[in-house]
Amino acid sequence: MTNIEKISAELEQFKIETAENLENFRLRFLSKKSELQSLLSEIKNVPAEQRKEFGQCVNLLKQKAQKYFEEQKERLENATALQGGDMDITRPATDIELGSRHPISIVMDEVCSIFEKIGYTTVSGPDIEDDWHVFSALNFAEEHPARDMQDTFFIAQHPDVVLRTHTSSLQVRTMERQKPPIRVICPGRVFRNESITSRAHCIFHQLEGLYIDENVSFADLKQVLLYFAKQMFGENTRIRLRPSYFPFTEPSAEMDVSCNICGGKGCALCKHTGWVEILGCGMVDPNVLENCGIDSKKYTGFAFGLGIERMTMLKYKTNDIRLYFENDVRFIQQFTAASR
Ligand code: DAH
Repeated sequence: MTNIEKISAELEQFKIETAENLENFRLRFLSKKSELQSLLSEIKNVPAEQRKEFGQCVNLLKQKAQKYFEEQKERLENATALQGGDMDITRPATDIELGSRHPISIVMDEVCSIFEKIGYTTVSGPDIEDDWHVFSALNFAEEHPARDMQDTFFIAQHPDVVLRTHTSSLQVRTMERQKPPIRVICPGRVFRNESITSRAHCIFHQLEGLYIDENVSFADLKQVLLYFAKQMFGENTRIRLRPSYFPFTEPSAEMDVSCNICGGKGCALCKHTGWVEILGCGMVDPNVLENCGIDSKKYTGFAFGLGIERMTMLKYKTNDIRLYFENDVRFIQQFTAASR
């Protein structure tokens, strides 16, 4: 019993401040070779009448030592974790690289917000389409070359399924769903079976615009496009409309903007004409309105479709469309909203 008291007193005084103290404590009180452990093995040798009391005291002491050990161990571990454990928390952190927006996304958003400001709503639709929405409803004749495999990606097993070649398919989807007045823009990815060069790619982006109401005129179309060109390329930008042909518009036109690289003097981008073509447009053909269930006697409207890559190349003065699809970070990192 004196031994128990002696060990108990020692235990009371034992201060644990470091991992080394902790280990010493374990060796002293809890290991197989410790004095306390040998007292435990002594129990069986104690005379029967004292054995119970002795046994209880030794076991209590053992529990006390064990409990104190566990508590101190946890306390020390928490303290080390707070200090950063094995890590050196004063070491400078490695950089977290922030992604940047893709130039095509930046320009797409900019174009959308220009039209949203004058009341257009943005809608989207499927990249994989059927013949009706890409061609038939838009008044493409049966033998139109765009329906040729040379120009359009078809799905071999399903001749009716195509990758959309233009976002004009969304004109049809919108008119089928919605009654006039309609004022929407439809940004999206389009696909054409083209060989890839510095000026053409098999994937690119377009934005379609559509405005249908009573008494919509070609003058309205022209004003909207002039507003857009000035917002996009600056107040001094001029536009010009050239007669053209699209199956889904009548009359149809193509629009050029004054070249913002040479200011109209003539350079490689504008092929020394001072003008760059950026979109196709026209008054929606009455056949298209009727195909989509809209009364062409009551309503008229205009549509336009512009190429986002062309716009981006103009805006950032780059001359190879392939750069936008290679996703070399050294290239795409340069286009943060701040660099605009
Ligand atoms: N869909 C035409 C193309 O991909 C662009 C276009 C031309 C869209 C005239 C229109 C339009 O809405 O009116 O080349």
